[in-house]
Formats: sequence, structure tokens, C-alpha cells
Amino acid sequence: MKVLIADSISATAVAELDKNFEVVEQHYSPDELLAEISKYDAVIVRSATKIPREVIEAGANLKVIGRAGVGVDNIDVNAATENGIYVVNSPRASTISVAEMTIALILALGRRVVQASIKTKRGEWPKKEFMGLELFGKKLGFVGCGRIGSEVAVRAIAFGMKPLIYDPYLPPELFLKFGAEEITDLSELVKRSDFITIHALLNEETRGMISHREFELMKPTAYLVNCARGGIVDEDALYDALKEGKLAGAALDVFTVEPAKESKLFELENVYVSPHVAASTKEAQERAGIITAEQIRLVLTGAEPEFCVNARDLKQS
Ligand code: MLT
Repeated sequence: MKVLIADSISATAVAELDKNFEVVEQHYSPDELLAEISKYDAVIVRSATKIPREVIEAGANLKVIGRAGVGVDNIDVNAATENGIYVVNSPRASTISVAEMTIALILALGRRVVQASIKTKRGEWPKKEFMGLELFGKKLGFVGCGRIGSEVAVRAIAFGMKPLIYDPYLPPELFLKFGAEEITDLSELVKRSDFITIHALLNEETRGMISHREFELMKPTAYLVNCARGGIVDEDALYDALKEGKLAGAALDVFTVEPAKESKLFELENVYVSPHVAASTKEAQERAGIITAEQIRLVLTGAEPEFCVNARDLKQS
């Protein structure tokens, strides 16, 4: 059987697949992928390659699509289900890396590390300008608190921060586990938080969830971090809010449209940006590759995969 690795994954994962399958490592353009996909039984992607309905329908031999990572928003999962194709991923692989990046950004915003570095390199030695904030005692508001949010909470508590969690889907015992305060109303969360961090999926419920109304309510000293998905934060509203001093700054690892090659947010010195790299560590990518390769092997050998996002729907169809 033939496996296409369309976006690069770890060498260990490729070697594992090589033991059982014919493996082709090739990044195709969308048109090339459409023309070539029928040759393959499985395809593995990260975020660069998109798998829309037309590719799925052209995949006459396709049995499984692997996402070496968490989010499957680059794959048309409904189309895969309708065509009896498994969509597998590696949901836990990058949890620690994304949590660590979130903490890094919270610390960097509170101490304005990026501005201090730029100005010092310019020879300004702006010692008086850089009066930072301690995290100790500050309220960290979570918009969503699943696997990644939970790891952020553990680390934030170690810094003496107070977690406030808005997550309608979190079981009550978890609030107790983190010693966190449950907030049932998003407005209250944004009003009370010193730092706000997003750990929700992008869906119709969360799209544009942080917008003009929420920025109006924030403390002017508050900071926002988004290492989850672009689109949850309304970027135009964020720009207006920052220009009007409605919050102190923001750090964005994700954007509504990616790759984000330009944005008016890039003009603002209190906005830190990075190219969706929170999960890009050697450790996370090694895990993601190996776990995804194993899911592919399971499907192609007739076994049930452990991490399948459409398992229930496939069974029902
Ligand atoms: C993920 O969903 O796995 C992360 O956001 C990383 C990525 O998409 O590259």
C-alpha cells in the first residue's frame, strides 16, 4: 500500500511507515495533489497541505488521512466521512509545547521583552521605560480550558497566578483540581482578567468570540494571548482596541488567514506575532509524527485507530 507524506514529519515516523508501506515524501501544489491523490491509500499532512472535498472525492484508493498535529481544520472531515475515509490525528503530541509557548508569551508581554530588546539593540538603553509586571497574584482568564489550557493552568499556578476559567464544557471537578474559579459568563471573565489566554477550538460558536464588546470590557492594563486558532479573536476589533488603549498588548501565534504575510496589527509595537509555531518543537513534532504514523498503520492493517476524529460518524454511516 502507498502512503503519501505531503508535509514533512519526523524521520523516525517515516522509517516506521517504511517498514510496512511504500512511502512517498512529496509536497504537492493543490492541483498536483488533485491529480496524484488516486495513487495513494493514505496521506499525511500537517497544516500546509489542505485536503478539500474535491481531493477526497478524487482519492479513489484513499482510506485514511493523517494530521500530524491536533487541528483538522485543513481537512474536509465531512467529505471524508461521507466517503468512508478515516481522519486520524495526534491530539496529545503538542500539548506541553503549546502550553510552554503560551507561558512564554504571557511572561514576555508582562515584561515587554520584545520592545526592550529592539530598543536596547538600537543603542537607546531605555532602562526607565521598562517597568514590568509580576505574574504573581495576577488573574489569568482562560477562554476554554481543555488539554492545553489545563497544562497552562498548572504552570500559571506555579507562578502564583489565579486562574479564572470560562469553559462551558469543562467538568466541575476540574475547576477544583486547578484551584480555579469557574466563570460562567465571558463578559465577567474579560472584565476581571489581567491576562487572557485562548484555548478553544475554532467553530461556529467560537468564531469572532473576542470582539468589540469584549475589548470594551477589558482592563486597559490587560494582555491577550492566542495560541489556539485565528478567527476566535476578531483582528480588526483587536487593532481598534489597541489603538484606543482598551488593552495593553497582545501576542498572536495564529491568524484568521494563514500564512499571515501582512496585517495592520504588525504595525503596533505592543503586538507580538509568530508564524503558528507554538507546537513547533523537536519533541512535539517527533511525537506527532510517530503517533500519526501509528494511526495510519492501524487503519491500513485493518485495526481501529486510537485517535480518529470521525470514528463515531463513520460507524453510523
Ligand atoms: C495543531 O493543530 O496541531 C497546531 O496548531 C499546530 C499546527 O497546526 O501546526
